[in-house]
Amino acid sequence: MNPAPAFVNWADGALQAPGLQRSEKKLGQLTGIFRDHQAWQKLDPETIVYRVWWWEPVASGTAGGLFWGLTEIQPGRVGNEYFMTRGHWHVIRNRAEFYGTVAGSGKLVLMDRTGHTWAEDMAPGSLHYIAGEVAHRIVNTGDKPIRVIACWPSDAGHDYEVAEGRGFGARILEERGAPILVNAQD
Ligand code: F6R
Ligand code: MN
Repeated sequence: MNPAPAFVNWADGALQAPGLQRSEKKLGQLTGIFRDHQAWQKLDPETIVYRVWWWEPVASGTAGGLFWGLTEIQPGRVGNEYFMTRGHWHVIRNRAEFYGTVAGSGKLVLMDRTGHTWAEDMAPGSLHYIAGEVAHRIVNTGDKPIRVIACWPSDAGHDYEVAEGRGFGARILEERGAPILVNAQD
C-alpha cells in the first residue's frame, strides 16, 4: 500500500506528515562531543543545539524503503567549536543518503572507514550525496539556523560510536572569524 503524500514547504524545509517524528538535542545531552570540555560545562545544559523532524512512511528497518527528514541546527559555539550534530555511521554501512541545504550555511564533515576526514560547504541549494561507508555530521558555521533536508534508507540505522568513541578525524573551529578544518589530534 502506498502512503498518502506529505508536504514540504520548500522555502524553509518545514515538513508536515502523518505521524511526524521529532527529536531535540540540548547541550547537556551532547556529552563528549565538543573538544573544549570546560567551555561546554560553563554553558546552560538546557540550550537547544538541534532539532530533527522526520517522516517514516514505512516501518523502520524495512529493506528498500526511504525516510525523509529536516534538521535545524542553531547558531552557536562551544569555545571556538561551532554547534553541530553528533554525527553517525549507518548501521548497515553501505547505506547512502542525500542532504540538501535549505537555509543557512555550514560544513558537512565526512569521514571514511580509514579515518580520513574532509568537509563540504553547505549553502542554500547545495545537494550532498553521502556515500555508504561514510560517517556524516552537519556543522552550523553561520549566525542563523541552518536547515537541511535529508533522505535515507529506512533500514540504514544509526551508529553513534563515531561521536562517542574515537571521533571524527577533524573538527570545524572558528579562527579569526572564519571556519577552518583542524585535525582532531592538533
Ligand atoms: C539520517 C541523518 C539525519 C541525522 C540528523 C541528526 O540518517 O543523517 O537525519 O540523523 O541530522 O544528526 P545525528 O543523527 O547525527 O544526531
Ligand atoms: Mn545519516
